[in-house]
This record gives sequence, C-alpha cells and structure tokens, in this order.
Amino acid sequence: VKTSANSHEDFLQCLSHFSEVIYTPKNSSYSTILHSAIGNPRFNTRTVPKPLVIITPRNVSHIQTAITCSEKHGMQIRVRSGGHDYEGLSYLSWMLPFVVIDLFNLRTVTVDASDSTAWVEAGATIGEVYYGIAEKSRTLAFPAGLCPSVGVGGHFSGGGYGMTLRKHGLSLDHIVDAHLIDVNGRILDRNSMGEDLFWAIRGGGGNTFGVVIAWKLSLVQVPPSVTVFEVARNSLEQNVTRLVHRWQYAISKFPREFSFKVYIARANSSDQQGKTAIETKFSSMFLGEVDKLLPMMQKTFPELGLMREDCIEMTWIESVLYFYGFPWNGSLDVLLNRTSRLPSFKGKSDYVKQPMPEIAWEGIWRRMNLVDVRRSQLQLTAYGGIMNEISESSTPFPHRAGTLFQIQYAVVCNGDDDLKASDQWHTNWIRKLYSYMAAYASKNPRGAYVNYRDLDLGVNNLHGTTSYRQASIWGKKYFGNNFDRLVRVKTEVDPTNFFRNEQSVPPYHQYL
Ligand code: FDA
Repeated sequence: VKTSANSHEDFLQCLSHFSEVIYTPKNSSYSTILHSAIGNPRFNTRTVPKPLVIITPRNVSHIQTAITCSEKHGMQIRVRSGGHDYEGLSYLSWMLPFVVIDLFNLRTVTVDASDSTAWVEAGATIGEVYYGIAEKSRTLAFPAGLCPSVGVGGHFSGGGYGMTLRKHGLSLDHIVDAHLIDVNGRILDRNSMGEDLFWAIRGGGGNTFGVVIAWKLSLVQVPPSVTVFEVARNSLEQNVTRLVHRWQYAISKFPREFSFKVYIARANSSDQQGKTAIETKFSSMFLGEVDKLLPMMQKTFPELGLMREDCIEMTWIESVLYFYGFPWNGSLDVLLNRTSRLPSFKGKSDYVKQPMPEIAWEGIWRRMNLVDVRRSQLQLTAYGGIMNEISESSTPFPHRAGTLFQIQYAVVCNGDDDLKASDQWHTNWIRKLYSYMAAYASKNPRGAYVNYRDLDLGVNNLHGTTSYRQASIWGKKYFGNNFDRLVRVKTEVDPTNFFRNEQSVPPYHQYL
C-alpha cells in the first residue's frame, strides 16, 4: 500500500470516531506521552523517527479499529507496554510511516488468591503485578524481572526472569491463558487461538503475532520468609578473578531454592600504581531461612566468605524492593512508579555452557578498564535448577538444560545527537568485547536473549521481504531450533507480515 500525505489524512479520518485517544505531533500532549515510556534514552534524540500518531486505547475496540485502519492505509504498528525494549522498537521504527499503540490505559491487575491466578492487562508493569499480588497474599509471588517499570507486554513475550529463576523458571512458563487481537481484528483466547499460536506468543518476541491484551498467570507459592544478600568484593582487596571463577563451579551445587547473580563493574578506587579496581557484587535470594542458607553456602561456595550479618530475612515482596534498591521495609507504592531511571545504553547477551578459565576473566577486566569508571557493566545470572528440566521446545525460549549462566553486557552511552563520536566509540567497545567472548560463549548457534534485543545480530530488510536464511541468523540465536516452528506459526496467522519490526520472525512465503 502506498502512503502519502493524503493517505495520512485518510488514516486519521479512519480513526476519528475515537479522537479522544489519538495524539498527533500537533497535540500538546503528544511529546509527553511519547517520552513517558522511553526505557533507553539513546532513542530519545531529535534524529530518531517519531510516530505519525500515538493511540492510547481505553478499550479493546480502539485497538481493533487501529489495526483495521493501519492495514487499510499502509501504516506500521508499534505496540508499547512498558517501553523497555533495548533497541526502542516499541516507539520507533526505521520502516516508516508508523503509529504507536501505547497500552498504558489498559493495565488492570486482577488477582484471585483462592486459585493462585491473576489476569493482567498488557499495559501493566511487573511492579503493578507484584503490588497486586502483595495486596492479596504474602506467600504468593510471580517469577519475573527485577525492574518494576518493565511492561508485561514485552517481558512475557520474550521470557522474563528474576530472583526465583532456578526454582520457578521464566514468567512465560507460568502463563496459562491470554487474550490476543490478531491481524483480522479478532479477539482470541487460548482455546480459539490454538496451541501453536499460544506457544508462539509466550517467547517468540513481541509485535509479531498480534497484540496481546491480557495474560492469565499461574502464581507460585513462596515461603513467608526468604533470605537475601548482596556482598561486594573489590579486586584491590580480594582476588575477584578467583572468586568469579569458583562461582562458576559452585552453580551446579546450589539447590534450586537459591538464585544468584553477579554484577561486575570498573570501580572508582585504584591502587598505588593507579591501577583501577574491578568491583563485583554477589547478589542472591534463597527461598528459605538464613539458618539453612549459611551451611549450604559454606559447603558449595566457601570462597565468598558469607557471614550471617550479610544476610537479611524478609518477605518475598520486600525482596522485590530490596533488589531494585528501594528501602526494603518501605512503602510498596514505589512499585507503581512506571518511570525507568536508566541512562542511555547499548546491551548484548550470551549464554555460557562451560566454566571460563581465569585468564578469560582477566581479559574481560582489561577490556573493562578501557572504559570510564561505571560506564560498563556485566551481569551474570546462574542457570540450572528447574531450567535444566524444562524442554528446549516447551516454549520458544530455548536456553535451558546445559546452560551454566547468562551474561548481559551493557555500556552507558551519551544518547545525544551532538556526541555521536563518543557513542560510536562505546558501541564499538561493546562489540569488541562480544567478539572476544566468542571463544567462551555457546556456539552453533551462539545464543542470545530476545528480551535483550540486539540489532547488531541482524535485521529484517526495511523494504520488501526478508529471506528465511537471513532471518535465521538472529532467529536461531534467540530461538534455537524453535525458530522454524515460529516461522510456521507466523505464516499461518499473519501471512502478509502486518505485525513486524526490525527483528520480528518473518512468514515463509517471503523467501520463496
Ligand atoms: P516494550 O513496550 O518496549 O516492548 C518490547 C517489545 O514487545 C516490542 O517489540 C513491543 O512492540 C512488543 N510488545 C509490547 N507490548 C506488546 C503487546 N501487548 N502485544 C504484542 N507485542 C507487544 N528482562 C528480564 O527477563 N529480567 C529482568 O530483570 C529485566 N530487567 C530489565 C531492566 C531494565 C531497566 C530494562 C530496560 C530491561 C529489563 N529486562 C529484563 C528486559 C525486558 O524484559 C525487555 O526489554 C522487555 O521486552 C520489556 O518489555 P516492555 O513491555 O517494557 O517493553
């Protein structure tokens, strides 16, 4: 479909009967709404393409009409839930022209504690979900991420993991039903969409199969008291290389009630020769009491030297506040704040299957020392536990048995049109680190997490079609052997590739 100024007018006309939820650049609120959920300020610059229209639906029929009008007038749709996409694909498109459907008005969370389920509208954040659960029970929880402003629309479409990963797996492992609007504007539930499509929307990536309007979650039981700790170790005082090295061997010995992350950054401090330190933070939650945790740590990872005074017992919901850096015994209202507080960044991910030698870690430290203090960060997440027992094909997310840990690499950029050279330097730096890590990361394919979207892995052609071979370059990294099934489902439910973005799964006939 050709688009022109006239067809833009026709498109607006098509939407005109719900003008109260339509914002064009002429509206004074357009800019405020656009900027309200930009999770990565790298895409908040003058030169980034802006939507022709933002639609903030108040009911499902607004979305249905937006889909019909967009199809008719050749508009691209970008659906936004929490706006935390690493590459900004929920509010920008390099395939012009486009509209943003921002779901923030549709975010009701309804928890039924009696059968441990919840219906959650797709514009809700995970903070709102946690809050809703805590209002009803302190021993029910949901396995999802650490940052409360992440939206359930994107998070559950790609994975969703947090501090109960080794006991309960991913968010998408606990989704038991969903409501989705398909390309024909029909509202489908699990029954009417069928098991193939229901499988695909739980992990096959957002903005690909339709617009999810609500998820039904099966909540998990947690004990009344959990134990948390965050202990810092600095390379000037401790041998952090050895600690991280030993941590890799301890992972498989940890019980599944124990989830563990390691944050690594270049510290502020330096030694007398001016060599700056590498700082690590060992961050963990145990679904149980400190008396059980301490002997287990002594047995599996004595090198950390964990002490009783490092540990705090609290409720699961308090641990959510704790891990995001809020006062853990403060008000839960902070979970309702939808604003993200991240700087501009570029992120990447890897999966590691074998412990890396000490020399490999030292190579990372050397590279981190090239970047200004606190500008680069690595986040290691221990796998194992229940992740080893869920089959690779049970959802599109394939990184299960055999994964030792996941790495997230991040570097802070300037996110300013006038500081492009510096941003280029930092994005090149992270690409070089990623190349260095090829020797240690998973192979054939080298796995990546779709929720840490990385356009360096490849993109769909901005105009025309994309071949299976081209899309499988990134598709197999994100989805492994599940990629082919995702392509089959896509071909069946959206053969014209209406729902797409720079990295969505394309339908088959596109490469015939
Ligand atoms: P956003 O609204 O940007 O959507 C992401 C993608 O999904 C886009 O393609 C969008 O179009 C699509 N989409 C959104 N709503 C949709 C809907 N209703 N129907 C169809 N498609 C839809 N991950 C993790 O597993 N654990 C963690 O702890 C964290 N922590 C974290 C912190 C911070 C600060 C950031 C920026 C990100 C994370 N993440 C994470 C990654 C996060 O899971 C990932 O970015 C999610 O896709 C974000 O979902 P949002 O809805 O916020 O994003």
